[in-house]
Parts: sequence; structure tokens; C-alpha cells
Amino acid sequence: MSPHLTKVAEAIREAEAQGMLKENPILTGFSGKKMMGTLQRFAAEFTDENNCYLEVGVFQGLTLLSVGSVAKGDVFGIDNFAFFDKDGKNQSIVEDRRSKLGLENVHLINADYEDALHALEKHLNGRKISVYFVDGPHDYRSQLVCLLFAKPFLSENAVIVVDDSNYNDVRQASADFLISHPEFKLFYQAYTPCHPINMDKKTEEEARNGWWDGINVIVRDKNNELKAEYPSTIRSRKLFEADQNTHSARFPEAAYIGTKLAEAYDKFWLRGIIKFNLELIRGFSKKKKQKPSYFELNTHSHELPKGQFNSSVSK
Ligand SMILES: C[S@@+](CC[C@H](N)C(=O)[O-])C[C@H]1O[C@@H](n2cnc3c(N)ncnc32)[C@H](O)[C@@H]1O
Repeated sequence: MSPHLTKVAEAIREAEAQGMLKENPILTGFSGKKMMGTLQRFAAEFTDENNCYLEVGVFQGLTLLSVGSVAKGDVFGIDNFAFFDKDGKNQSIVEDRRSKLGLENVHLINADYEDALHALEKHLNGRKISVYFVDGPHDYRSQLVCLLFAKPFLSENAVIVVDDSNYNDVRQASADFLISHPEFKLFYQAYTPCHPINMDKKTEEEARNGWWDGINVIVRDKNNELKAEYPSTIRSRKLFEADQNTHSARFPEAAYIGTKLAEAYDKFWLRGIIKFNLELIRGFSKKKKQKPSYFELNTHSHELPKGQFNSSVSK
């Protein structure tokens, strides 16, 4: 194996055996020590003035600042702080902790991940991404877009770490990326039995010291040294096909509320049944005022052009 891929394997093995390179008790968030140990070793080994670490999904900065404290190059984190942030404090928590730790190499990009990845050129200022950590929104499209939009900025020897690979839709996005970009290979995968929130105390402790909610490590395999292997996914496409029905439904927002309602019925959870029925009714009356809205097969195309050339085609 090439020296670079040997270093990738060594970093993972060392993180498996020894966990993190450096811990800081002021940091809090959602991750496991083997995961962070792997990210830290990648950043310590593969970043420099021209090659940076980028992460999507910062929350309170546990992974970003842990990596920043050992990286040799700059470290960028994208988050719009729209989730898990009831009091609107996460951005200032990250900034306070960054200055307490004196990490001047850490840069926060407060933006939607899609906008930030579109404007990466401006943020990275000529640097390439040598270590890329994907830990933002976990729906299939977001996962795939995170991989696709960052691709032009990845270095020759880029290593990608996909968190929350326990989820089937996350694995499906990684598998689709790998199949369509054969120069990238799945290098390592590790899973935990369920999401840590559903674990008993002992298993949760193991996940905190381990791989949290599953990991896929993807490398650019320049010399085509590795076999093409993919994370395992559920073969049925039913849920992805249901997306089309949801997008074209008259009340698409009701799809999620419908699943919560089903849960409430399953447990005979009366307050839930009342709450989600009320949300459905509110959604129905709001939607009735919006036009056009059909019983089914809504296309959202009524304002699109009837025929239009690219703006540079001469008239
Ligand atoms: C699981 S948390 C990340 C955990 C973090 N890496 C840590 O060390 O604790 C996911 C983060 O993704 C962010 N996120 C979700 N959707 C986003 C979007 N559309 N654009 C930017 N960030 C987003 C959330 O605000 C949240 O902070």
C-alpha cells in the first residue's frame, strides 16, 4: 500500500487502540473518542498551510475544536446553528471556547451548508481540503450534496469521514457517491448497534468512547490500490420512492406529522394524538389558502419558463 494510505490505516488503528490525541474538558457535543481520535490524527498528519480540515455540522464545537487543537493547518467549520440550539447560544459557545483555547487556526462559517459549499472558493482562499468531516443534516440529499459540492476542493490525498453512518440513508448517499466516483474508495467502516439516544447506559458509554453513531472513511485512491467496496444498504427503494409522493402531495409537511401521529397511536399517547392532529388541521387550513394546490401530483412548476435558452445564447 502507498505511504499515504498506510498512514491513513495507522491513524485509524491508533485511534481504535488509544482514543483521542488530546482531550479538553470544556468541550461538549455529540461524538465518540475513536471518531475524534481518528479526525485528530488525520488533521495532525495531513493538514498544513495549503491543506485544511473542513467540517459540516459544528454544534458546540466538540469535533471542530478538538481537531483545531492538534491540526498543523487551518480548520473550518460550517453550521447555520438552526438545530439543537433552542437558546440561540451555540455560535457564541464555540467562539468563547475557541478563544479560551487560543485556537487561531479555527474558522467558523455561519451559513447553510449548501450556500457555504457553493462559496467555498472564497472561504478556503486557495487551500485544498485534505480532511473532510461530514456531520450536518443527515437526509439522503444533504449527505450526497455535502460530498458532491466539496469534491472540486478536495486535495489529491483527501480523506473523508462520514459520521452517523449507522443510518441507512447516510450509507446510501456514500454508496451512490462511491459508485459514481470510482477514484474514491471506502477505506474503513464501523457501526454501533443503534443511535446513542436509544442505547442503554453501558452501550452509550461504549459509543462515547468509540464510534458514536457509525463511521465511513472514504479515501481518494489515486493509484487504484483498493478494491471497490460499498457500505451495506437496504435493497428496497420504497422509502426513497415515497419521497416523490411526499414532494408532490398536497400536504407534504403532513408526512412527518403523520409518522409522529402513528407513533402516538402505537403507544396510545393521548397528548401526542391531540397535538399532532391539531398540527395537521392547522396545516390543512393554511394550505387551503395557497394556490395552486391539487389533490395529488403537485409539480411546483407554474412559475417556471415555458421555454428558455441559456442567457449566453445569442438572440
Ligand atoms: C450532530 S450536530 C454536529 C455535532 C458536532 N460535530 C459535535 O462535535 O458535537 C449537527 C449540526 O448540523 C447543523 N446543521 C443542520 N442542518 C444544517 C444546514 N442546513 N446547514 C448548516 N448546518 C446545519 C446543526 O445546526 C447541528 O449543529
